[in-house]
Order: sequence, then C-alpha cells, then structure tokens
Amino acid sequence: MASLSDEISSRRTFAIISHPDAGKTTLTEKLLLYTGSIQTAGSVKGKSSAKHAVSDWMDIEKERGISVTSSVLQFTYNGACVNILDTPGHQDFSEDTYRTLMAADAAVMVIDGAKGVEAQTKKLFKVCTLRHIPIFTFVNKLDHEARDPFELMEEIENVLGINTYPMNWPIGSGRNFRGVFDRQTRRVIAFEGDGHANATKKVAEVEAELGDPSMDELIGEENHKNLMDDIELLDGAGDELDLDAVACGKLSPAFFGSALTNFGVEPFLKEFLRLAPTPRAYTNTLANEPVDPCRDDFSGFVFKIQANMDKNHRDRIAFVRICSGKFERGMDAFHVQGNRKLKLATGTSMMADDRAIVDEAYAGDIVGLFDPGIFSIGDTVCSGKRHVQYPQIPTFAPEMFARITQVDTLKRKQFVKGMEELAQEGAIQIFRELGAGMESVIVGVVGVLQFEVLERRLKAEYRVEVRRQPLPYTDIRWIQNDPDTIDIPSLSLTRDTLRVEDMRGGKLLLFTSPWNVDWATDHNPDLILSEFGNVT
Ligand code: G4P
Repeated sequence: MASLSDEISSRRTFAIISHPDAGKTTLTEKLLLYTGSIQTAGSVKGKSSAKHAVSDWMDIEKERGISVTSSVLQFTYNGACVNILDTPGHQDFSEDTYRTLMAADAAVMVIDGAKGVEAQTKKLFKVCTLRHIPIFTFVNKLDHEARDPFELMEEIENVLGINTYPMNWPIGSGRNFRGVFDRQTRRVIAFEGDGHANATKKVAEVEAELGDPSMDELIGEENHKNLMDDIELLDGAGDELDLDAVACGKLSPAFFGSALTNFGVEPFLKEFLRLAPTPRAYTNTLANEPVDPCRDDFSGFVFKIQANMDKNHRDRIAFVRICSGKFERGMDAFHVQGNRKLKLATGTSMMADDRAIVDEAYAGDIVGLFDPGIFSIGDTVCSGKRHVQYPQIPTFAPEMFARITQVDTLKRKQFVKGMEELAQEGAIQIFRELGAGMESVIVGVVGVLQFEVLERRLKAEYRVEVRRQPLPYTDIRWIQNDPDTIDIPSLSLTRDTLRVEDMRGGKLLLFTSPWNVDWATDHNPDLILSEFGNVT
C-alpha cells in the first residue's frame, strides 16, 4: 500500500485558464482522452447542449448550455494523480472561477495563437499572480494561421509581466503547420495530417534531428531553414529554464500545439507533470507557519459552495481543498470558524461526468462535503489535536453593479435574509451605501449570470421578487487605511464616486471609470486602495 507521503506527492492539482474559445474545453478533453479517462471526445461539457455533462446541476446551466460552477476532474497518468479544477471560460463566469484558483497549485494558461493575450486571460492571470503559483502556457490552434511566435512571447511578457521559456517551437502555422521542435531533446516532432481533422486518436509523431537533410523533406526546405534561424535566436538568448523562477510564477514554460488535432498535447502533459508542483504548503494563520501537506492530520478549506445540488433536499455542497493528511468518509473533524466538532459524512468527487462518492482523498485533492448550511467560503476543517486555520479567501473586485430592491415591501425580512445568505455563500457580493439601510442593496458581480442566479434563487428559495437597476460603476477599490486614521466622508472624490461598505464592514469606493480612481489617489495622497479585499 502506498504511504501517505507517496499518495500526496503523486498529486498534481491545477486549473486551466483561458479567454472563452481559446480551447480550454478541447484541451481538457484531449488530456482526458490521452489518459484513458474518457473514450470519446465531446464528453466534457461544452457549449452545445448535446455535450452536456451531468455535472451541470442548476437549471440555468442547462438552459444556457454553459457551466456556471467549477467542478473537478481527476485521473491518473504515469503514476501521477491529476486533479484538473475546471473554471468556466464563458464571459458569464463568476467569482467561483477566481476562488477555484485559490485551490490550485499551478495554472495552465491556454492562448489562442491567432489572438494572443485576451481580456479574460489577463483577469485570471492577475489572480494567479496573487498566489505566486507556477503558470504554464499552451499556445493553441497552431493548425490555424497563428501570429509570429516571437511576437506572442513578447506580448505575454509585456502584457502579463511574466517571462516565458519556450519548451518547444512551432514550425509554420495554419496550412503550413509542420510540427514543433523540442528544445530539450533537440528533435523535431512532425505533424501529420491536413491540420483540419478533429481527430480523436493520437496523432502520429515523427522524430528527426535538426539539420538532418531528411528534415527538408519532412517539413520543407524553407521551414527547415526558418526553424534553424529561430532556434539559433532562441538559444542565443542564452536563457536557462530556471526552475525556481517557474516555481514562484515568474517564468512560464511555454508550449505550442493544437488541441483540436491532438498535436502537442501529450508532450505537453508529460512535461507539465514533470515540472508541476506537488501539493504546496498553505499557511496556518494561527501559528503563522506553513502546514506540511504530508502530516498525518487532515485539514483543508472551503473554496466554493454549491447550493441546490439536489432539488428534493435543498442541500449544499462545500468544496474543500485538502491541504494536509488524508480524508476519510465519516471521519471526525473540527470546523474552526463554527468552533464545533462534526462528522465529515459525505464526500463527493467530480469525475468527468458523474458525482462519485469518495471514501478517501489526500492533500491536493478536492472533496465535496455535505453542508447543512454551516460553512462559509474560506472556512477551515481539520482533524487532530492541534487546530489550524487557513487564510481567508480574498474578495475579488466585482465588475458589474446593480441596485436590487424588493417588489413587495412587506417581504422585507425574507429579502434581507436571502440577500445576506446568498452573499455569505459567495454567490454575490453585497454593499450598503454608507449611511443607508437595507431597503435597497447594491450587488456586485463578476459575471452578469450571477444576477440571474440571484433573482431566480431569491424567488425560488425565499419567495421574494426583486427589481434590478443597473448602476454605472465599473471599478471598485477597498480602502486599506487603518479606519481610525481616515475620515471617509471628507475624502476628496469626484461627484459620481460612491462610498459603501461590504458585509464584513470593509469600506470601499465605487467609481464610474479608472480615471476617477486615479483622481481619488491623486487628490488624497494618504489613501491606500486595493483591488482585492481581505488578502492575508
Ligand atoms: P473554451 O473552452 O476555451 O471556450 O474553448 P473550446 O475548447 O470550446 O474551443 C472553442 C472553439 O475552438 C471550438 O470550436 C473548438 O473546436 C475550437 N478549437 C479548440 N482548439 C482548437 C485547435 O487547436 N485548432 C482549431 N482550429 N480549433 C480549435 P467551435 O466551432 O466554437 O465549437 P465546436 O462546435 O467545435 O464545439
């Protein structure tokens, strides 16, 4: 039987991030295909209804054909136990997407080779950098006309501020795509096929050495020459693959390929698993020291809560990232924030498309605990005598705001209860105008779908109808100054800037443009503003 530390060190837990349509779903699917976790392409939830996986629990997901919540896919490959934390790539994504990144040990950033770095990639990347986790780049769709690879690497470095290290280098693109040059083995892996087939089988890979005359035949004389020039340039730059820089997210190993045609997926997976970190040590805030993932005692934190998984029971599932030890179904544990003992009665894990009950799981894994309504996002559960507590999950800046008022003023109690509970669960963020009551509430979200979920759930679960009035705010900042040293009402701000507070009593400013943010900092030199709340 494998020891605890063997089990844990075999874990690789990561999230795939991308702008919608860059190919995240396709890449995920191909990874599952290679590892034998699924037999056919199209099993991972996609946009067309035919592709729906059973993990789309909420009606709204089914209707819209998108995935609102993030789930976890687990498979084993070459002795590694891989957890892919799925993050919705649709523009209607929600804060869950951000929170999921708090539970990942690494991120794979998929970039469309023709489009480069896009808006959503930037946002998700920013959250990854908060945690200093390794970020790997997969430049996708090389079977389509792509931009110059040097230009793409430069864009990643300039726009995202991370250095890249190309692990392989593409040979042509689009119709002219012939394969990649592997910088480690110094060999060419040639691409066979017309570049347009949605093949679900592994692509044949032909290996030959650079400079070999047979290469002219394999990839074409001009491609061969261009490749030799490119590689000379890359090698001339003299950069080494600095593993320490990779580990703290300062250097991104970059791979080129085409998920749709299966090209470059397997070499990417192999290298990724070689370089990706084992479960990392999260900090115990009670002792201000890292917790060894391999210690015997179980511990973890809730990073996501999913309500209404089962309509008949109105239950909630709290998704826990295990940070240390071993989880066993039915085990005794302690809920730190609730200050009480509990039995971890139900564990579920999200396999590709079914919700399997989990009996055991290890640090690095994600388990879904049955939640009778006791957990909040960021809560710690642990076993053993020495309790630990993990840092709070930061509150991410919403980007859309609306004023929500109840239609029937007699239902005030239900309205306030519903709004507060849904905010506690992390479905939305709520703000109160400084000096105002709860008769209307300002709601902030990351994706517009969260508004729809809010309205439906208020109606279904609290029997409250609401009106939504969109607000023009686009930028939000938490005031980080010590509350005793700053007088918020007397801050010098543009007239359309709103002073609000969040559920935890944090003070914030809502702005109608980035220009107004600059105005506030320019005119209040002592003011400290942050894009994230509660970062510890
Ligand atoms: P996402 O999860 O990041 O949103 O992207 P997804 O994988 O759904 O891919 C978006 C579209 O891009 C899909 O086409 C998909 O087939 C295509 N695609 C993904 N990888 C590649 C690639 O390597 N090469 C090429 N040429 N296309 C790729 P679609 O027509 O929008 O959807 P579908 O009808 O094929 O599902």
